[in-house]
Amino acid sequence: MIEVKKLSKIYGKGEIAVKALDHISFQVKTGEFVAIMGPSGSGKSTLMNILGCLDRPTEGIYILDQTDVSKMSEQELAKIRNLKVGFIFQTYNLLARLTALRNVEQPMIYKGIARKKRDQLAKQALAAVGLDDRIQHKPAELSGGQRQRVAIARALVNQPQIILADEPTGNLDSKSGEEILKILAGLNQQGITIVMVTHDQKVASQAHRIVYFQDGRIVREELTANGGDCGETG
Ligand SMILES: Nc1ncnc2c1ncn2[C@@H]1O[C@H](COP(=O)(O)OP(=O)(O)O)[C@@H](O)[C@H]1O
Ligand SMILES: [Mg+2]
Repeated sequence: MIEVKKLSKIYGKGEIAVKALDHISFQVKTGEFVAIMGPSGSGKSTLMNILGCLDRPTEGIYILDQTDVSKMSEQELAKIRNLKVGFIFQTYNLLARLTALRNVEQPMIYKGIARKKRDQLAKQALAAVGLDDRIQHKPAELSGGQRQRVAIARALVNQPQIILADEPTGNLDSKSGEEILKILAGLNQQGITIVMVTHDQKVASQAHRIVYFQDGRIVREELTANGGDCGETG
């Protein structure tokens, strides 16, 4: 599903240049659930942004679902992103002035889906994360865990093949974090490929495999106890 080869990302130029990723190579199979760990500043979010087609590598190859996206234009990347990827962020990234329902509808507006259909699909997605009774609430009227569930519903409405979650439980208490993790594990069991950054070893152990980053490089990989039964080849 995902293959990166000798991927590098350098921010800035000359004296202020920062090498955020240094010749990273790795793969994620279809249906796999991979956790990424590593100290702050080790390049985890940079990689997630590239995997999600929000940013482009300075060097190297990125093959997403058998397509080389490394050299695509912004416009082409946006298209792939809308089609294949759902994003979940630590800070939820919801629009404050919109209700849960309207937040979840947003990706479908970009896709040009009609209002009625959007409403129906957004309600379905919110029900799937257990928020049927909160669809008219705005983010400020929801708990952290509920906000993150709205964000998951929003990531799901376009039926992505991949979910990228950058510290999805980072701002949550352990109980809400566990709920979020349960939802992600359920989505993975339905066949969605998941890549998740976390600081929490217990959260990471829910994945099939843990990849450790340091200074823009992969320093170690290990299978978890769940690691045997994952994914198809491809
Ligand atoms: N937009 C940016 N411009 C310049 N430097 C950046 C930018 N984003 C990240 N960096 C730098 O790249 C390195 C990796 O950052 P990041 O990928 O956010 O790490 P992590 O998510 O592991 O904490 C850090 O040194 C960070 O300061
Ligand atoms: Mg980060």
